[in-house]
Amino acid sequence: MPPSDAPSPMVLARGLRRCYGSATVLNGVDLAVAPGEFVAVTGRSGSGKSTLLRLIMGLETADAGTIRADGRIAVSFQEPRLQPWLRVGSNVGLGLPRSIRRDRVREALAEVQLADREREWPLRLSGGQAQRVSLARAIARRPALLLLDEPFGALDALTRADMQDLVLRLRSRHGWAVVMVTHDVAEAVRMADRAVVLQRGRVGLDLPIDRSRTDGRGRPVDHEELEERLLDALRFDHPSAGPETEPGSPRTEGTQRRTQQ
Ligand SMILES: Nc1ncnc2c1ncn2[C@@H]1O[C@H](COP(=O)(O)OP(=O)(O)OP(=O)(O)O)[C@@H](O)[C@H]1O
Ligand SMILES: [Mg+2]
Repeated sequence: MPPSDAPSPMVLARGLRRCYGSATVLNGVDLAVAPGEFVAVTGRSGSGKSTLLRLIMGLETADAGTIRADGRIAVSFQEPRLQPWLRVGSNVGLGLPRSIRRDRVREALAEVQLADREREWPLRLSGGQAQRVSLARAIARRPALLLLDEPFGALDALTRADMQDLVLRLRSRHGWAVVMVTHDVAEAVRMADRAVVLQRGRVGLDLPIDRSRTDGRGRPVDHEELEERLLDALRFDHPSAGPETEPGSPRTEGTQRRTQQ
């Protein structure tokens, strides 16, 4: 690699492979995420997006390749995963050292505009509020890297847009790097600096998103074209597109080796 002034990446995956039994889910993923960068990861269901996040978190080990993630990591999933027998504040503070817990919980709940719900039970929250509690739990850890796995998938369109804005505001305030899995290409283009599509176990498309010119809804001016490119990449990976073929080319290059099982 040539020397460069660019800061070293917070996440660096090289040739990442992950197999479950005879199925090779990830097969040579290369991905670098710079400090403060927002990367959206998309791909059809079962393409290995959540698996990639688990590898970044260190919850799973790669079968081949390398993965490195620097700094503190916090996570929020599609389901808020709150403990129903703990009040909101206790959910947010779970696992934090006692000496800082109270301040961190209050600060994080205020940031998601739920300061008044600290003593509430999770089951009495709406879906959007529960999702904000889940985000508060992540914020309270003061992460350098936030991993989001379809965080707004279960929310209605307006709540979803509010949550997107909230995450973007908090991210610019705290300077987190973010890796967000989403099925929604419009969401990817609205939020991220870069969108990658997982195709057949690797990064099939890595699309930079220029946010220097945006419309009234915060979308890049060329959002339609970007969304279309992402959709095309997703369509290409659909099973009906045929095995390892690409439009206009008889067969992809010979690097699509399957692992020996
Ligand atoms: N622990 C596991 N054991 C066996 N197979 C697994 C395991 N975890 C994931 N898989 C398989 O790996 C593939 C990728 O799963 P993963 O959850 O990463 O997909 P995904 O892209 O997140 O899909 P979705 O969009 O539906 O959430 C799937 O076929 C899944 O069944
Ligand atoms: Mg998933």
